[in-house]
Amino acid sequence: MKHYLGIDIGGTKCAVCVGDESANILDRSQIPTTGDPLDILDQLLVKAKSLVRSHARIEAIGISCGGPLDAKQGLILSPPNLPGWNGIAVTQFFKERLGVHAYLQNDANAGALAEWRHGAGRGSQHMMFCTMGTGFGSGLILNGELLDGANGNAGEIGHLRLTGDGPLGYGKSGSVEGWCGGSGIAQVAKRMADKHRERGSVSSLFAHNTLSAKLVAEAALQGDDLALNVFDHVGQKLGRTLAIAIDLLNLDTIVIGSIFARCETLIRPAMERVLAEECLPHSLEVCTVKPAALDESIGDIAAITVAQLGPTL
Ligand code: BGC
Ligand code: NA
Repeated sequence: MKHYLGIDIGGTKCAVCVGDESANILDRSQIPTTGDPLDILDQLLVKAKSLVRSHARIEAIGISCGGPLDAKQGLILSPPNLPGWNGIAVTQFFKERLGVHAYLQNDANAGALAEWRHGAGRGSQHMMFCTMGTGFGSGLILNGELLDGANGNAGEIGHLRLTGDGPLGYGKSGSVEGWCGGSGIAQVAKRMADKHRERGSVSSLFAHNTLSAKLVAEAALQGDDLALNVFDHVGQKLGRTLAIAIDLLNLDTIVIGSIFARCETLIRPAMERVLAEECLPHSLEVCTVKPAALDESIGDIAAITVAQLGPTL
């Protein structure tokens, strides 16, 4: 059985794991993403070395990280959710110190590969995976292959602007990440809460000074009208986003992780309403929208999948 090392660099935490050919995660360790990038890499290296010592030979290292990045050169290029990570030669760092080939991929592309091989996208030929976490990214598998684009940045759907004004995400107000990413949802909720408070309505959200997508979801699941309204908005904007992708790419499957996977019942009705209004019926008819199947392990499995497929990407 071959073994691979996976490194998942995220806005709040970074994980190192060892996985096998079927992407079973055999061992893992994580640290918070706080401080200087080079310190974080040093800490990850220590964890990686101890994992490598207690496992069989490692075939390859896969690194998954938010974009923009240069996958071919192995460079992280200032991702919006990783302040200070600019021009970091991450594949070289691990390759030199561990003596094993390392491959870098955008986290959403890596997630797409993972869901396609091991999760809800199995058997699909034309799929899009969306992260829908703090950030909003996508990975595209078209005609059975990952789409890179001219310099590896295809699929940056979170950067698309949906409305002239609106919550901020990916450095742009009214972007897909602004409307549908985790911190965008908190902004939408804050704006709506301010309006509702003025109008004298009642909501459990008024008791909080700062809102998060998680808090709003909990309130919505308890039946709070304002929180339900927030998710109706999110569903509409998500529907609009997916409609563009469906009409443009004629997808058979869309897999959505994180917030969608946890809050599907809150988001799906509005999303479907808008899809039905916006999409070409012929394209909509063949496309299924599913929650991600890999749950909390998706980051680890994504990085391991990058290690496995590295040479072919
Ligand atoms: C990044 C994307 C990434 C997404 C999810 C966005 O802000 O720029 O590259 O895929 O967040 O992490
Ligand atoms: Na991508």
